[in-house]
Amino acid sequence: MYRTHTCGELRATDIDQTVVLAGWVQKVRNLGGMIFIDLRDRYGITQLTVDEHATAQLKEAASGLGREFVIQATGKVVERTAKNPKMATGDIEVILEQVTLLNASEIPPFTIEEQSDGGDEIRMRYRYLDLRRKPLQQAMMLRHRMAQIVRNYLDKEGFLEIETPYLIKSTPEGARDFIVPSRMNPGEFYALPQSPQTFKQLLMVSGYDRYFQIVRCFRDEDLRADRQPEFTQIDCEMAFVDQEDVLGTFEGMAKMLFREVLGVELEGAFPRMSWQEAMEYYGSDKPDIRFGMRFCEITHQVKGRNFPVFDAAEYVGAICATGAAGYTRKQLDALTDYVKRPQIGAKGMVYIRCEADGSYKSSVDKFYNADDLRAIAEKADAQPGDLILVLSGDKKQTLNALGELRLEVGNQLGLRDKTKFAPLWVVDFPLLEWDAETARFYAMHHPFTSPKAEDIPLLATDPGRVRANAYDFVVNGVEIGGGSIRIHDSALQAQMFQLLGFTTEEAQAQFGFLMNAFRFGAPPHGGIAFGFDRFCSLFGGADSIRDYIAFPKNNAGRDVMIDSPAPVASAQLDELFINIKPLPGNS
Ligand code: AMO
Repeated sequence: MYRTHTCGELRATDIDQTVVLAGWVQKVRNLGGMIFIDLRDRYGITQLTVDEHATAQLKEAASGLGREFVIQATGKVVERTAKNPKMATGDIEVILEQVTLLNASEIPPFTIEEQSDGGDEIRMRYRYLDLRRKPLQQAMMLRHRMAQIVRNYLDKEGFLEIETPYLIKSTPEGARDFIVPSRMNPGEFYALPQSPQTFKQLLMVSGYDRYFQIVRCFRDEDLRADRQPEFTQIDCEMAFVDQEDVLGTFEGMAKMLFREVLGVELEGAFPRMSWQEAMEYYGSDKPDIRFGMRFCEITHQVKGRNFPVFDAAEYVGAICATGAAGYTRKQLDALTDYVKRPQIGAKGMVYIRCEADGSYKSSVDKFYNADDLRAIAEKADAQPGDLILVLSGDKKQTLNALGELRLEVGNQLGLRDKTKFAPLWVVDFPLLEWDAETARFYAMHHPFTSPKAEDIPLLATDPGRVRANAYDFVVNGVEIGGGSIRIHDSALQAQMFQLLGFTTEEAQAQFGFLMNAFRFGAPPHGGIAFGFDRFCSLFGGADSIRDYIAFPKNNAGRDVMIDSPAPVASAQLDELFINIKPLPGNS
């Protein structure tokens, strides 16, 4: 046996025992007569002490140890004179009697302690060392625990965990596919699944009426803090259900996770908001409802006062920042710059300060008198001491910009507390989204999403107004999950493909397998998928999902540890009948 205990295990109750520990040397402090060694494993840190009674040989061995050496240590547990309440093992230390070097280590490229001195790039390169650090260990443990709770919950609810293939077929919908050449079928390619969507629907046709899988998905899209090219979903599908059944089942799962992992009891049903309301009042399909600051439209109120900006605007909207009338000119200028950034694209920002004495001070005093400003303040439900911020312009863009402004002001006012959780179901998404550039409809969710029964007649007359039985699970402004009730009728599915601009032949070539399956008794079904990495980082209070993935990619989609992607040998390409075109700039 290499060890009798882990490095996180020993307590005052173990005093006087002789123990054997094994782990990594985090730090050696040589204080003349005494040597202290912090020994680490994933369970914790134990202090080993070489005291004045130790043999010269032991002292020598201990002083020869360096950071990250792997050792086996035998010794006696004693009470510490200077206890460390910050450490779980802080009441004791182990008086070293024997040390065996299991493996030496080169000097690590950064300090492997709770706070590291290593930059992002170097820690990614040596990810296996970074993973020794406590914050990452905790992230991995959190992820593990969440996965176990999910499995238990779904198992108890009668879900079967079934694997679906990773080598599938490329389809034109959604994000870009990662493709894999087939040696046995030269010139042909598999695609890695963006999600198991069609397979889980086929499983419903096969009668496995409750399916789940904690599954890797692959999407070749631009990366952000909450996006990785390969990420994990808790993917689920149910047959003989309607939207209420799905929401109810997964509200239960989410509540259990909050309770068991965070000790947070979320009382009552999760609030619901229609997509329309979310867009109109929060400028986002994933509103952060930890705080209010809903938009208030004042388009008609502000017109006709010779202020050309508002007169020309399709939409004018305001938010009220409670208690923020004291914002300085500098703060307001910074907010104006914020909304004028190209990715937000507002032309400018108007403010109205509601002074404590009931008067108003605004950046448009030239055009609006006190009565006008009071009327706006009343509409925006602003009280003395509040600050009203107004944006205007094209409706869609202004709603989006107001949404960004709302989040920024929410941040500044400390309204986005990471220890508070505000779950929300966003429902009634539109079925289709019109793309002016390509002059065609796209499926807002995916092409298998069912329209609301009462909106089906609109498919023929006004498809843009058709609402879908689709829903997103949003927490604190992050889209954690999304799903829908599916089309299970092959004729309706064919109509949907037609609306999406597929010819019958194209639809048959791409999705024939699914439409054919639907001809053999497809039950009504629906499901949902949660972004597991996002769920974990939400629970861990992190901004990036990377910390919750053992071996993530960087923002350029590279794994800098294994240096991938990388060229392959020309023999491999020959086998696949693949020629690489000259790369731009390499002619
Ligand atoms: P959707 O595309 O909405 O739905 O994905 C479900 C959830 O997966 C997470 N997610 C991601 N997480 C990290 N990196 C990414 N690149 C990434 N892309 C998505 C999000 C999202 O809410 N098949 C449907 C689900 C269904 O209808 O049942 C689907 O994949 O948290």
